[in-house]
Amino acid sequence: MSVKIIVGAQWGDEGKGKIVDLLSEQVDIVARYQGGANAGHTIVIDGEQYILHLVPSGILHENTICVIGNGVVIDPLALLEEIEFLKSKGISVDGRLWISHRAHLIMPYHKLLDQAKESKDADRKIGTTGRGIGPAYVDKVNRMGIRIVDLLDRDTLEEKLRTNIKEKNEILKKIYKEKEIDVDQIINEYLDFDKKIDPYIKDVSTFLNESLKDGKQILLEGAQGTLLDIDFGTYPYVTSSNPTSGGACAGVGIGPTKIESVLGVIKAYTTRVGMGPFPTEIGDEEDFDLRDLGGEYGATTGRPRRCGWFDAVIAKFAVQVNGLDSFALTKLDVLDTLEEVKVCVAYKYKGKTITTFPSEMRILENCEPVYESFPGWQKPTSGIRSYQDLPANAKAYLDAIKNLTQTDFSIISVGSGREQTILIG
Ligand code: GDP
Ligand code: IMO
Ligand code: MG
Repeated sequence: MSVKIIVGAQWGDEGKGKIVDLLSEQVDIVARYQGGANAGHTIVIDGEQYILHLVPSGILHENTICVIGNGVVIDPLALLEEIEFLKSKGISVDGRLWISHRAHLIMPYHKLLDQAKESKDADRKIGTTGRGIGPAYVDKVNRMGIRIVDLLDRDTLEEKLRTNIKEKNEILKKIYKEKEIDVDQIINEYLDFDKKIDPYIKDVSTFLNESLKDGKQILLEGAQGTLLDIDFGTYPYVTSSNPTSGGACAGVGIGPTKIESVLGVIKAYTTRVGMGPFPTEIGDEEDFDLRDLGGEYGATTGRPRRCGWFDAVIAKFAVQVNGLDSFALTKLDVLDTLEEVKVCVAYKYKGKTITTFPSEMRILENCEPVYESFPGWQKPTSGIRSYQDLPANAKAYLDAIKNLTQTDFSIISVGSGREQTILIG
C-alpha cells in the first residue's frame, strides 16, 4: 500500500507539474484532488512544454493511469479541449483517464459570475483566474451544484440547469447589471456532453481503493498551494478549495490511514499571482528582475507573477499544516547569477518578532520581513545531478532552509527538464 500526496507549499506555481511528472514514472496512478482549470502545471520533456490544467501531470507517462477526483470542479469545455490537445501531441488518454462521477461541473454562468464579481467589486477584487472556480464551489456547498453524474440523465440535467440559471440570471441582472444568459442555448450545448464525457466516468473512490488492494502505487496531486487554501491560506485572497494535504482524502475518496507520505513542493524563492499580502515581495526597486530570471509568468492566465525572497515562516507553516515529510525544492538554478540571496527568518510586527504565520491579514500586511543574507554561488547549477557537486554557497543556502524548517530535501530541481533533477536519499 502506498499513497503519496504532493502539495504546493507556497502560493502555487512551485513546480508541482515537473515533480509529479518526475515521480509518475514510479507509480501506477496519479489523481488530482481539488481545484479546477485555474491550475497550470508545466512539464518540459526534451525541450517541449506541456501545460496541464485539469488532467493530472502523470499523463505523459504512457503506463500511468490518471484520475480526476470528486474534489475537482470540472469545466467540460476545458477538459475536452485538454484531451484534444493531448491527442494532437500523440498522447492517448483513452482507457487511462478517469473522472469521478461525483465531481461538480463548472458552467458558463460560474465563469460569468466570477468575472462580474471581480470587475464590479473592485474594492474586494481577489485577482482570480476567472475560471469560475469560486462560484462553482459555492453551488457545491450550497447543495445546488450539477455533478458529472447528472450529465448522464438528460431530464435531471435540464431541470437542474433551468432552476440554477433562473437564479443566476437574477444575480447577473440585478446585482451585476449584466446580460442574462439564454437557458435553452446552454441546455442544448450541455446535453451533448453526455456522450463525450461518458467514456471517462468512473467511481473513482472504489477504483482507487481496489487498486490499493492490488498493490498499486498512487500519487495524489494537489493544485494551487498552502497559502491559497480556503482554511489556511491568506484569506480572503485564496482559492475556494483545500490544496493542503488534508483535502486530498476527501477529494478522491481514500481514507487517511492509506497515506504513506506528504511531499511539499517549494520554490527557492517566492511568487504569487493575484492580490493579497506578500511580506517578502521584492517590488520594482531592486536592480535585478527575479521575474525574468525565473520566467515568472502565469501558466494559465499569462499574468506576471509577483516575486520575492524565500520565506521560512511560510515554509514552516506549510510543514505544519500539511505534515510534510520532505521538500522538493525547485528553481535553485534561477538564483545562480545573484551576488546575494536572502531568506526571511521571521517577521517584525509593531516592534515584536513573529515566527509563526499570522492568520489576520491586517497583521500580515504590516509585517516587515527579517532577513538573513547569504553570498550567492554565481556558478551554473542546471547541469549538476548530485547534491555533493552543488557549489558550497548553494549548499549553505539549502542548509539554512533545512535548519529553519527542520525538514529535509528529497529532491532539488535545477531546471524545468525531467533530467535536471537531484534526487537525495
Ligand atoms: P505548478 O503550477 O506548481 O506546476 O508550476 P508552474 O508550471 O505553474 O510553474 C513552474 C514553472 O517553473 C514552469 O514553467 C516549469 O517549467 C518551471 N520549472 C520547474 N522546475 C524548475 C526548475 O528547477 N528550474 C527552472 N528554471 N524552471 C523550473
Ligand atoms: P497552480 O496549480 C497560482 C490564485 C489566483 C487568485 C486566487 C483565486 O498552477 O499552482 P481562483 O481562480 O482559484 O478563484 O483564484 O488563487 N490561483 C493560483 N495562483 N497557481 C495556481 O495554480 C493558482 N490557482 C489559483 O491567481 O489569486
Ligand atoms: Mg501553475
